[in-house]
Amino acid sequence: TSMHAELEKLLNTSKGTEREISRKDFDGFKKLFHRFLQAKGPSVNWEKINKPPEDLILPYEKIKDQGLPDSVAASLNKLVVVKLNGGLGTSMGCKGPKSVISVRNENTFLDLTVHQIEHLNKTFNVEVPLVLMNSFNTDEDTKKILQKYTHHRVNIHTFNQSRYPRINKESLLPVAKDLGMQGEQADAWYPPGHGDIYASFYNSGLLDKLIAEGKEYIFVSNIDNLGATVDLFILNHLMSQPKDKRCEFIMEVTDKTRADVKGGTLIHYDDKLRLLEIAQVPKAHVDEFKSVTKFKIFNTNNLWISLSAIKRLHEQNSMDMEIIVNPKTLDGGLNVIQLETAVGAAIKAFDNALGVNVPRSRFLPVKTSSDLLLVMSNLYSLDAGSLTMSKKREFPSTPHVKLGSSFTKVQDYLTRFENIPDMLELDHLTVSGDVTFGKNVSLKGTVIIIANHGDRIDIPAGAVLENKIVSGNLRI
Ligand code: UTP
Repeated sequence: TSMHAELEKLLNTSKGTEREISRKDFDGFKKLFHRFLQAKGPSVNWEKINKPPEDLILPYEKIKDQGLPDSVAASLNKLVVVKLNGGLGTSMGCKGPKSVISVRNENTFLDLTVHQIEHLNKTFNVEVPLVLMNSFNTDEDTKKILQKYTHHRVNIHTFNQSRYPRINKESLLPVAKDLGMQGEQADAWYPPGHGDIYASFYNSGLLDKLIAEGKEYIFVSNIDNLGATVDLFILNHLMSQPKDKRCEFIMEVTDKTRADVKGGTLIHYDDKLRLLEIAQVPKAHVDEFKSVTKFKIFNTNNLWISLSAIKRLHEQNSMDMEIIVNPKTLDGGLNVIQLETAVGAAIKAFDNALGVNVPRSRFLPVKTSSDLLLVMSNLYSLDAGSLTMSKKREFPSTPHVKLGSSFTKVQDYLTRFENIPDMLELDHLTVSGDVTFGKNVSLKGTVIIIANHGDRIDIPAGAVLENKIVSGNLRI
């Protein structure tokens, strides 16, 4: 077909390792593109969707009640922690990998992750390795940072996810002219979503290496989820299953609130647990999908997956993850699509898969500077790389924070706070327009600060704002 011919042409523009890596990538891409062309209509039939039966979504408490055996260390030595690190911090105005943004006392996401695992390794006298799945966007910058961990007690491995060609929406052919990434070519490629982990982990050879070392499960999570620490109870649950009923996949889900309407949910479909993402939902059912009454839980993307099962299913080519078609407009105005998959979508292929309904604290993502403000504040305390809600806060829920567009970029956000306000008693904060905060400001209850266009509001040092609306022009 013309796609195959175009891909061959691209490969012929280069030689050596680059060409060999691209050939592997293109093999995966061809399969995905083929499935995309075959797909007719929606990937789910709405009428066939069922609520998962109770025994397939276990409450975390039930798992915790099983307690811990003396052999925790033995279980930990069969575990590998994997962080999804292919994404950029573009939504927070950063150019490099998101994982290198400082989140707490100068510590980046990466630093916190390394501290957590190092602490685990020291506490239990074990060797849990850390694996980072990088992309061509993040590999170089990440490796520079990793140099500082050579003397820490954690083995760090990286592998690169695939690089796929973006395709012209009209012609359905690659927009790339050669395998390079300079200049105009920079826009011609993309990392195909975290569902790529299975193929790229396998292709890197690391999967086999870890199996040979006796590792059995990976714990995968988004690098920007600060709540995704190794949970010993879930690990123990996996390890204590009878051999013939081994659970090959656990998806941590948590109760949905009105703020998380977009996350994927678990459904029961054709007698299997399946991830349902908003992209798969027919338009007529989107409101129903978003409601918190029918679909009560969502995917945190904290996943526990059997290594040997990944190997088996990859070799059988039977993951069959739903394709997410992501349309984009390039700088020059060209409309392209990129085909992606999500790591959780493979759940249906694994044996004895389970959902575990975990406390909200295991889902602490930093997607915006509003999230960043929360995790930088005194609402949390940092202990061995883990953030926990401060005991001084009287209600367990986190405040609602909405910072306006002048705070979107991390750089701008940082210049607008002399230091992070006291937020222990805050319920709700809305800030809009040109607003700055002096030192040691205290925010309590509901606080709304709105500087209209052309105005500026400087909250003075030491101010205590409790259930207050500030607007107009306040310069002190
Ligand atoms: P996403 O950008 O998909 O975030 O990255 P999300 O929370 O699932 O969804 P949205 O877009 O905010 O709604 C989740 C994690 O997966 C990694 C990112 O680095 C991040 O840690 N990722 C994403 C990859 O490693 N590779 C990819 O191709 C995409």
